[in-house]
Amino acid sequence: MHEDGYFDERVAARYDESSAEMFDPEVVDPVVDFLVELAGGGRALELGIGTGRIALPLARRGVAVHGIELSKAMAGRLRAKPGGEEIGVTIGDFATTSVDGTFSVAYLVFNTIGNLTTQGAQVACFQNVAAHLEPGGCFVIEVGIPNLQRLPPRETMRVFHASQTHWGIDEYDVANQGLTSHHFELVDGRFERLSIPFRYTWPAELDLMARLSGMRLRERWCGWRKEPFTSDSRKHVSVWEKPAA
Ligand SMILES: C[S@@+](CC[C@H](N)C(=O)[O-])C[C@H]1O[C@@H](n2cnc3c(N)ncnc32)[C@H](O)[C@@H]1O
Repeated sequence: MHEDGYFDERVAARYDESSAEMFDPEVVDPVVDFLVELAGGGRALELGIGTGRIALPLARRGVAVHGIELSKAMAGRLRAKPGGEEIGVTIGDFATTSVDGTFSVAYLVFNTIGNLTTQGAQVACFQNVAAHLEPGGCFVIEVGIPNLQRLPPRETMRVFHASQTHWGIDEYDVANQGLTSHHFELVDGRFERLSIPFRYTWPAELDLMARLSGMRLRERWCGWRKEPFTSDSRKHVSVWEKPAA
């Protein structure tokens, strides 16, 4: 695999365009409002900061943001944007990379916890976050609920997006909590394929990872506007807290 992981130069160059709906202010603003409130005037750490979809508007709201990012190509796109120079980015794996100082909030959005494809790496990520949080600080994750209720017995593929220019198919490996998202995107008249492996989790497993790291669940919502989390929720936004000293 490329040293930038799955988000190499080719993917980084198209990221903002191919994820355009995630850059819509209707999507971004509630995330930023939620994080500003949790930061409470302190610093924020974004794991997998990417091209700054959340970090840039959060910084514009007066929150000091630092990022950890595996892909130099993605970080380069962030740096090239207005305000990007003011956001520090440490290149490395967010499961293990240390940065200076402590934070009042750390966040990992857009299903990115699943980019760590082993349980051990996901636990290490929680432990790494706990080590960076101030007492009373919070860790926020936004991640989808595995769509297994829609998967008939012995079938492994599920279409999650279908349009003229983009087909998305999730391939489940239930025995290993594995999920590979296959994207087929029309680029310059040809369909290009990008397949990214994930490890899916249930909320309770993440709660246990938090407990193993000395944190406890504070809130769980279905979305950034604090919609109730129910049996029908397709994703969750969860907040774990490091106990105050
Ligand atoms: C789906 S993108 C999300 C980017 C940004 N957070 C956003 O919301 O637009 C996932 C990002 O996480 C980065 N990433 C994935 N695994 C990583 C890891 N183990 N350590 C650091 N960065 C990672 C990828 O390079 C990519 O930039």
